[in-house]
Amino acid sequence: MGLLDKLNTIATTRETLLPPGVDPFNVVIEEIHSSTEATIAGQRVILAGTNNYLGLTFNQQCIDAGKEALTKEGTGTTGSRMANGTFHGHCELEKELALFYGCSNAIVFSTGFVTNLGVISTLAGPGDVIVLDADSHASIYDACKMSGAEMIRFRHNNLVDLEKKLQRLGSRTAKTLIIVEGIYSMLGDCAPLAEIAALKRKYGTWLMVDEAHSMGVLGDHGRGMAEAADVEKDVDFIVGTFSKSLGSIGGYCVSNHPELDLVRYITRSYIFTASPSPATIATVREALRIIHSQPQLRTKLWENAGLLYEGLKELGFELGPDPGPIVAIRAATKEKALFAWKALLDQGVYVNLVFPPAAPAGLSLLRCSISAAHSVEQINYILKIFSEMPLETFSD
Ligand SMILES: Cc1ncc(COP(=O)(O)O)c(C=O)c1O
Repeated sequence: MGLLDKLNTIATTRETLLPPGVDPFNVVIEEIHSSTEATIAGQRVILAGTNNYLGLTFNQQCIDAGKEALTKEGTGTTGSRMANGTFHGHCELEKELALFYGCSNAIVFSTGFVTNLGVISTLAGPGDVIVLDADSHASIYDACKMSGAEMIRFRHNNLVDLEKKLQRLGSRTAKTLIIVEGIYSMLGDCAPLAEIAALKRKYGTWLMVDEAHSMGVLGDHGRGMAEAADVEKDVDFIVGTFSKSLGSIGGYCVSNHPELDLVRYITRSYIFTASPSPATIATVREALRIIHSQPQLRTKLWENAGLLYEGLKELGFELGPDPGPIVAIRAATKEKALFAWKALLDQGVYVNLVFPPAAPAGLSLLRCSISAAHSVEQINYILKIFSEMPLETFSD
């Protein structure tokens, strides 16, 4: 067996499964017109499968801030945070994130993925235990493996299973980190965080929440699930990304534990990668101000999310359990999901096609997502195209 032979099975799957002409896992956005419209495969489409929850990628203030930083500070930092890659803006953003969350400490990383990889694998090590939700993001799984800590999964959002796993740990709970997400990226359902925080208190563990999909979306001030569930004081570490509500790229961790600051000195994914560009940092700082000052964006997002979720439910589609900006539609088979995905695209609606392992529980999903920037007309158009799709396309 040669080095590259393992890739041949992927080539075979691709040939048998994918339609000619367009590869759903390699979609090229030929032109981007706004935060909700693009040209794909020569056709103008509505983007109903992004993570641009507040539509800030085309916000004029963010663009202006980015342009100014680009002109004044250049195209990149060409260095890691530890060396020459920490500019004034990176430090200011860390202060602003700490202020936003009411925490003493914040660290900015180059992406959300490397934030998880770095923070988790630094906080937990051999002899420690990580108890994580089974539907956790790939970056959390990879971090757990890297950490050398014992990794124990509990069934997705299942409090009984979580408690059972904690009980078995006995005195080791003091060295145990529970990791959950605020909103889960594929089914769009929320963690029962108030109850999880109660278990954290009862068993004396540590708690980390990945708010990648809930920051800017949940909570009166947009701080996420911990704010919405009123358990911010119980959460030891919040991790998040700039690539969703904040409309940019990068990641962060905030905490009231001053030890977080020490992570900078030993975390490989902080030390051995270039820092976000000045323009990136400037757009994020502006977006954070907007999230803070414009709660109406969140109100609009939830109005839009309700329209899509209720509309699709009325049409009879099988959806994820919680209404919200991520609306996942289950398809019976991979082939059916693929057929539906292509039919939607042909009618000018782009959604994400998600297969296992990206989709949980072996599901094949059409992951729709909505933003505050979608118009009611766009949502009605999306619903109209779904209404024209026979339900058999999705069912057994
Ligand atoms: C829950 C979760 N955590 C982390 C990440 C990684 O974020 P980034 O895109 O900034 O690398 C994602 C991205 O999809 C995510 O869904």
